Amino acid sequence: MSRVSLKVNGVRFDAEASARRLTTFLRDEARLQGTKVGCDAGDCGACTVLVDDDPFCACMVPIGRLDDASITTVEHLVTTELGRRLQDSFARHGAAQCGFCTPGMLMSAYALLMTDPHPTVEAVEDALGGVLCRCTGYRSIINAVVTTNDDVVPLENPSPGKAVGARIPRVDATEKLTGVDVFGDDGIDVATAIVLIVRSPHHRASFSFGDLDAFVGAESGVVGVLTAADVPGRNAFGVIPAFVDQPVFAVDEARYIGEAVAAVVLEPGSPVEVLSRFPISWTPREAVLDVETASRPSAPLVHANRPDNVLVRGFVRTGDVDEALRTAPHRVSRTFTTPFIEHAYLEPEAGWAWLDGDVVVVQATTQAPTMDRDELMAILDLPQHRVRVIPTAVGGGFGSKLDLSIQPFVALAAVKFGRPVRIRYSRHESIRTTTKRHPSRITVDAGADSDGRLLGVRLDGEFNTGAYASWGPTVANRVPVHGSGPYVVPNYRAATVAVHTNCTPAGAFRGFGVPQAAVAQETVYDLLADEVGLDRLEFRLRNALVAGASTVTGQVFESGVGYRDCLEALQPYWKDARERRGPVGSGEVRGVGIAGIWYGCGNTALPNPSTILCGVTSTGRIVLHQGAVDIGQGSNTVMTQIFAQTLGVPIDAIARVGADTSITPDAGKTSASRQTFVTGNAVHRAAASLRSKLLARAGCDDTTAEFAVDVDADGFRLSARSKGMSYPVDLSGSTDDNGYVVSAVETYDPPTTPLDADGQGAPYAVYGFGAQLVELVVDTATGRVRLERIVAAYDVGRAVNPTLVEGQIEGGIAQGIGLALLEEYVPGRNDNLHDYLIPTIGDVPPITSILIESNDPHGAYGIKGVGEHTLIPTAPAIINAIRDATGGLVTALPATPERVLKAIREVVS
Ligand code: FES
Repeated sequence: MSRVSLKVNGVRFDAEASARRLTTFLRDEARLQGTKVGCDAGDCGACTVLVDDDPFCACMVPIGRLDDASITTVEHLVTTELGRRLQDSFARHGAAQCGFCTPGMLMSAYALLMTDPHPTVEAVEDALGGVLCRCTGYRSIINAVVTTNDDVVPLENPSPGKAVGARIPRVDATEKLTGVDVFGDDGIDVATAIVLIVRSPHHRASFSFGDLDAFVGAESGVVGVLTAADVPGRNAFGVIPAFVDQPVFAVDEARYIGEAVAAVVLEPGSPVEVLSRFPISWTPREAVLDVETASRPSAPLVHANRPDNVLVRGFVRTGDVDEALRTAPHRVSRTFTTPFIEHAYLEPEAGWAWLDGDVVVVQATTQAPTMDRDELMAILDLPQHRVRVIPTAVGGGFGSKLDLSIQPFVALAAVKFGRPVRIRYSRHESIRTTTKRHPSRITVDAGADSDGRLLGVRLDGEFNTGAYASWGPTVANRVPVHGSGPYVVPNYRAATVAVHTNCTPAGAFRGFGVPQAAVAQETVYDLLADEVGLDRLEFRLRNALVAGASTVTGQVFESGVGYRDCLEALQPYWKDARERRGPVGSGEVRGVGIAGIWYGCGNTALPNPSTILCGVTSTGRIVLHQGAVDIGQGSNTVMTQIFAQTLGVPIDAIARVGADTSITPDAGKTSASRQTFVTGNAVHRAAASLRSKLLARAGCDDTTAEFAVDVDADGFRLSARSKGMSYPVDLSGSTDDNGYVVSAVETYDPPTTPLDADGQGAPYAVYGFGAQLVELVVDTATGRVRLERIVAAYDVGRAVNPTLVEGQIEGGIAQGIGLALLEEYVPGRNDNLHDYLIPTIGDVPPITSILIESNDPHGAYGIKGVGEHTLIPTAPAIINAIRDATGGLVTALPATPERVLKAIREVVS
């Protein structure tokens, strides 16, 4: 084999001149793992590096073509002035969230800035157009690049007592911007055995294995095989205890295309083609792929113990909706459908496992380490102290990484073969096998009086929950609670059903079904406003939920209800946009749409605790054990800010220990927009407790004192400062099991109540509220929609870090644009990022964010969550704007050009 000589970041390497990818060489041989692999197909751009100063997807460049080439990767940036300026600009703009796309973004931007130091927005969009980001919504990235070479004032750490509300960069920004963050496929020796999964090629099929022993013996490089027979405990997992139904390895029958039936463990470097010779025979069987078919009496059952293929039903009722609708002077009813939506996080599932004595350790990308551990205990049939889960950095999750994916496979393989193992899903495997947003068919029937006040609303929703339960029960229960929208609705009935099919399991995806329901509800309310003859924003204001009014579950909040404020904040933008609507020439017409939302933070009517541990060592080191997994939303930073504020110390005095089921208490899963609110309150309580103990050790009785942290040769000296006096904190004495002289552990569980048979009760302690306005132009000849501007107003309770909140808003809007206009997953068909389209940098218009702080009484500092709220109104606002522009109502999402044209034609005919 001939060899090539190339330079990487100025260092010369010799390598075999093979066809292997540059990504493989960089990550496995040069050990530069800042370059990420998101698709191995040139679709996502995460692996962008510079080849002789030009950006290329490293996954598409064979190493054999690089003789004498000069490669520049993200690790190089910190060595140059321009690179450091770019990293600093990304940090201050919050342009890295999960950070997985960030190396590709940085390298594309670096190439641009080398030739164009002050690029325009358009130039940035052109240069970065080949790199996908699923978190940020791109606007912060554009702003960061455009302003890289501007003169800026250095950011300073907020002083004690000023942490909450400060626009500090993420506390983990440096790791994300220099390429050293360890994601699921980083950090493990490449000379580790590899786990590959054997999967069903059919939607539904029975199967039988051939001679597995002969396969292992005949194939070189095969360490062994795993099937259901190798599961020592429960061959099933799930996220809701009463609905644990998904096998680790299917037995006899596979229920969806891509379902795992076996695993093959390979020596490192062995050819993966061995999988095609795995001895298995398949017998395809009749499958049901949609709710209508699955609901027929003759339909085959996906699970024998679930009649009619019904997983679960949800229900909320108040008043007499039938009578209210029957007598309502104005009434509108419409039905809307939405498809499967893929999460499309840039990081495919990955991780590794090994044995540490008799403890099975799994390090993997996950949103829910404690849930993972508990499920693995059942699968492995091991007690808690023998299973440890350590999350890696997470390259986006959005709900799908709440469910187990790779974890059982690597854990079982590590146990069976007694050696470390690793796995990384291909993009195809990630899309084909992991959970999706539920397809829905939702009918909303709403009536109003002649003044435009809502009299009654009825919602009926069907959700395709796929082959296994996952979060189907949560979706079916959350939607009825939210189906009224944030409005006063005296008569209401919502009934939902989650139906099994032989499709990919549907699970959690940013909103748990509420985005689908909002499409129907907010669009019908728009139509109803027109029926009444009322301005659409005024209709929402007239019906808006306010403090003291009852929700449809009978809950009354006396404060912290900021929906009216959101709508009022949009009024001037609405007025301006209404004046701009109408023809803009050559068949194009401009429209404006609006939609509002509410969203309960945390589990629905269930316990929802988070626990936080913090302590101080004998050398004065302040440590926060922060178990709220940061999947890009910023919990590492938010928790640190809350902790610093309450404890009264500078942010940079705090050391952080991340999630680890062995050393960090359970802060619950990162979902349901709960971390800022629930874990944030636990952080506040723990910090307050620690503060009291430190003040007592200092002999300081001033409860408003701040702490100062001075550094000397022996460590940190901690002292309380009050009225010009300094009170050293006495850190002598014995230490606890965690090594702390003084520590605190506190738990917060939001006050909720179970719902009764009519869905009445207090499902959430806190709701967040918001509204979005969309201006767009429709080409009536082609049906293409061009977004021009989005304005979003959100009641976030209190913005702990406004930059992070704006990042959540922009990222959620981008995903809402995908839901509205682009995305539709068809199981087994478009499981790649070439055919499954998500918004690119050119698809997200300028966004104006308005933050409203209602200071919610439940949360420390008035905090609420905001993660999921941000996606929900975008799609209905777009659908409403398309109708405003053209008169055509799109009732099946996504609103492709064909569907927009069809809607326009229906108006004309
Ligand atoms: Fe871009 Fe997460 S920050 S994919």
